Amino acid sequence: MKDRLERIVILTGAGISAESGVATFRGPGGLWEGHRVEDVATPEAFRHDPALVQRFYDLRRAALGTVAPNPAHMALARLDAEWPGELLLVTQNVDDLHERAGSRRLLHMHGALKSAWCLACDGRFPHAGPLAGWPPCPGCGARGRLRPDIVWFGEMPYHMPRIHDALLMADLFVSIGTSGNVYPAAGFVDIARESGARTLELNLDPSMTSDRFAESRLGPAGSLVPEFVEDLLRRR
Ligand code: OAD
Repeated sequence: MKDRLERIVILTGAGISAESGVATFRGPGGLWEGHRVEDVATPEAFRHDPALVQRFYDLRRAALGTVAPNPAHMALARLDAEWPGELLLVTQNVDDLHERAGSRRLLHMHGALKSAWCLACDGRFPHAGPLAGWPPCPGCGARGRLRPDIVWFGEMPYHMPRIHDALLMADLFVSIGTSGNVYPAAGFVDIARESGARTLELNLDPSMTSDRFAESRLGPAGSLVPEFVEDLLRRR
């Protein structure tokens, strides 16, 4: 295992936003419960019933206005501001709570609710309102071609080469609030561990990948993450 502690990669999932009131995907009250994944989160679903898919994401986008970053998001933003070494925060979440907390060194590997992708010109644009009314593309003006800029099942997550490079170089990999069900994110721990990084999981319950981490701490992110950040900055 590497002795130095300079380069950190942090992966977050739905669990980090749970205490902000954003529903997680799996488990009681999970978002997929009311909808079959294939009905709302696949390219086939969008071809088959675009209005349903647009409404589903319009509701989730609108709901962002009712939630706020919690102490876990704030602690990671503090780490971003104060950590002098390399840091990369990779989120599977499509909410905007990390950026609203102030995180800058951030990649959204599954896309973002507040972004729209034009299938006519291939441009991606900040977008805050609904898409169900098929607004024109702000880039090329095409109508009826803007889709949510979300990575659906069967599509390639974003930024993979950059994330892979960061994992290979990482001294510490931390996974927060993710169930470890969805690849490639669920495999990040293996890449980091095989490259000699320390690995730490912070999650409410044991995840599918807990046994692949050197250390697992169980509890709510709103308490565990601020403690972890405080400790890391003190030992810096
Ligand atoms: P999941 O809903 O699968 O898992 C959420 C995890 O967070 C679970 O392991 C919970 O135990 C944990 N959790 C819940 N509340 C928590 C809290 N307060 N503090 C800490 N942990 C808590 O969500 P993800 O793992 O993020 O992909 O799901 C991964 C991907 O599956 C999503 O990005 C999405 C979905 O399909 C796409 O949309 C492509």
